[in-house]
Amino acid sequence: MAERKLMLITGASAGIGAEFARQYAARGWDIALTARRADRLDKLARELEEHHKVATIVVTQDLARANSVDTILKEIKEAGRHVDGVVNNAGYGLPGTFFNTSWKDQAAFMRVLYTAPIELTHKVLGGMAERGFGRIINVASLAGYTPGSNGHTLYASVKSGLIKFSESIQAEAKAAGHEDVHCTALCPGFTWSEFHDVNGTRDKTNEMPSWMWMESAPVVEAGIEACERGQPVVVPGAVNKGLATLIKVLPEPLGRMLVGAQSKRFRDAGDD
Ligand SMILES: NC(=O)c1ccc[n+]([C@@H]2O[C@H](COP(=O)([O-])OP(=O)(O)OC[C@H]3O[C@@H](n4cnc5c(N)ncnc54)[C@H](OP(=O)(O)O)[C@@H]3O)[C@@H](O)[C@H]2O)c1
Repeated sequence: MAERKLMLITGASAGIGAEFARQYAARGWDIALTARRADRLDKLARELEEHHKVATIVVTQDLARANSVDTILKEIKEAGRHVDGVVNNAGYGLPGTFFNTSWKDQAAFMRVLYTAPIELTHKVLGGMAERGFGRIINVASLAGYTPGSNGHTLYASVKSGLIKFSESIQAEAKAAGHEDVHCTALCPGFTWSEFHDVNGTRDKTNEMPSWMWMESAPVVEAGIEACERGQPVVVPGAVNKGLATLIKVLPEPLGRMLVGAQSKRFRDAGDD
């Protein structure tokens, strides 16, 4: 029997990453799950094996650690598998401003949300090109289109970087004739997950109208479908698409003013 393809998903212990695991398993992919919370990963792995009859590999890793990407890939290799697809999804918000956060926290943030996804992509892309097949989804954000904000300093920067990076990888794979190696940046807006609990903005985000929110299922489906089509960037949902268009056409000073007003709403009292 032909071996199923293997999808590696970072940040698979919760939210959007767990939903990616469920949807790719439902599509018949074996799944390698990684994050820091082993109990969550083990539970999800058992669920995927039972419901979808796929194989799973669990690798517990903190992506902030310098050798984490090598460790994840080593464990997959030791299991006798190669990576056919990656969802670079792990992420969080770092509250506070550049003034009142430590360099250690900023460096870890850049590592988890930016350099680890890029390193992982670099280390699996060659194999994908050789085998003539690969799928890479980088979970960016609508924030990648917005001006930088007062607080959560590097979030918009790294998400914007992931969008450009994904566009480049998609363009390079196509130009090199690797037609079935696809790379997509998925740019969600507000999505129900643990994200806003972890970054401490849940009370504020609960005040937002429900039409601004999406469930993770349609967000993930939009990402998978776009990547299948070889589309370099996708913004899921009509509201988010409208916002993305608005941000692009707004005069920059007005965009900065609006983001400034929003970021003031979301800043913790302690950040002021
Ligand atoms: N929710 C939204 O509104 C929204 C909007 C736009 C973009 N996004 C993006 O979507 C992605 C997923 O977020 P989510 O909304 O699903 O949030 P979530 O429910 O909080 O899940 C975040 C995931 O990232 C993992 N993670 C965090 N730090 C990690 C580390 N140091 N090493 C390894 N894994 C780590 C967490 O696992 P462990 O804690 O077990 O390590 C968890 O599995 C993020 O990149 C986020 O920026 C979210």
